[in-house]
Amino acid sequence: MRIPIIAGNWKMNMTISQGIDLVNKIKDITLKTDVEVVVCTPFTALMDIKRAIGDTKLKLAAQNMHWEEGGAYTGEVSPVMLKDIGIDYVILGHSERRQYFGESDDDVNKKVKSAIKYNIRPIICVGETLEEREQGQAEEKVKSQILKALDGVEKKDTADVVIAYEPIWAIGTGKTASSKDANNMIAYIRNIIMEKYGDEAFDKVRIQYGGSVKPGNATEIINQPDIDGALVGGASLKADDFIKIINF
Ligand code: PGA
Repeated sequence: MRIPIIAGNWKMNMTISQGIDLVNKIKDITLKTDVEVVVCTPFTALMDIKRAIGDTKLKLAAQNMHWEEGGAYTGEVSPVMLKDIGIDYVILGHSERRQYFGESDDDVNKKVKSAIKYNIRPIICVGETLEEREQGQAEEKVKSQILKALDGVEKKDTADVVIAYEPIWAIGTGKTASSKDANNMIAYIRNIIMEKYGDEAFDKVRIQYGGSVKPGNATEIINQPDIDGALVGGASLKADDFIKIINF
């Protein structure tokens, strides 16, 4: 039985005090169903948010990291530094990183392997552009991103991997994939995992949907049979909205 994972990706938002305020409103919420809730904060807030989370069940994630454990990489943050803070997850290969910062599939692959090495669970983002979808290339694109991201990742480590299917045209646009389309793509992704790793990984890898998830559509999306939760951007910045989503 896979426990759904709902992660709030704050992106480049929230000062430390705003973040603490938000976390204080959500950390003690009693959830209606068994769901793992994660906040993905800017690097600057990680340490203080970790303290604010305290011994509640809320999990903490970074939004990116470098693959090397240290060295001359000005402006970067290493897995060792993140592990030192005690983060649980790291978002890797978000489409905004790929689009605005030139992150390649090869970079994402190095980051995924590094995260696993340092016991940080990767949330690997994949998804097609509108053009690719309209040209019938969505599945091909997603398959290629997944296989490249997981190249060299061993079967024993797959239970810790989370995949977020985020069609790029749905991110921050207010447009969501229909719950049926999202479910179909996620079922397709699960089959890719099955082909590469077999039955056990097929059952364990959690695959979220992301892209304009809001209180009004969260239930319908997350209740789809193949969808294991959501990666939420804009709607994770307001406590009321995020609470409605995690109580889908
Ligand atoms: P959105 O962002 O919910 O604001 O569309 C999702 C994401 O980028 O993870």
